[in-house]
Amino acid sequence: MPSEKFKLAVLVSGRGSNLQAIIDSIEKNNLAAEISLILSNEPDSYALQRGKKHGLESVFLNPKNFPSRDDYEKQMIELLQTKSIDLVCLAGFMRILGKEFIEAFSGKIINIHPSLLPAFPGLNVQEKALEHGAKFSGCTVHFVNEEVDDGAIILQAIVPILDEDDVQSLSDRILEQEHITYSEAIRLIIEDNLEFYGRRVIRKTRGN
Ligand code: GRF
Repeated sequence: MPSEKFKLAVLVSGRGSNLQAIIDSIEKNNLAAEISLILSNEPDSYALQRGKKHGLESVFLNPKNFPSRDDYEKQMIELLQTKSIDLVCLAGFMRILGKEFIEAFSGKIINIHPSLLPAFPGLNVQEKALEHGAKFSGCTVHFVNEEVDDGAIILQAIVPILDEDDVQSLSDRILEQEHITYSEAIRLIIEDNLEFYGRRVIRKTRGN
């Protein structure tokens, strides 16, 4: 009997290019997983359309229908638990998750951020990197804890900042790396190929 696939939920708010990269990795058999749910807090998120195009359950959960953030997150928790989600992937999800949600999926929530954390957490990070005069930026896939962009780092990719870069050109080159790095990090988790030493996350084996 074939074993059950590793179940991903992808939480999105916008364009969904990272979601697309994960979908593509799965469809090319580079990732032994299935996306059991795509959840957006924004009705017009293009990510929802991408999901639907690939026949994936793509849900807009309207925060305005809930009296508080806690109530909204309770509903999210319930939805994800119904689907027996193994890993929650934040991909441009523009809400900060509360304690209850993080505890409900402890160690099972990851995020991708377009800088080399801990440099430049938060928003508008390419602008910040350029203004700061940094010579390198990149992207980081990390576990999610209660602080913003703070959890243990799984993988990073470095992108040089060129003299002629502006926010757009730098964002574009970082995004290319995001699309590769996010799937790699998910694969390490699926394959149970990570060891934890405090905040340090190390690969058990150095494969390809
Ligand atoms: C990406 O740059 C990601 O690092 C950040 O939000 C952006 C989402 O882009 N967290 P997309 O929706 O995946 O295209």
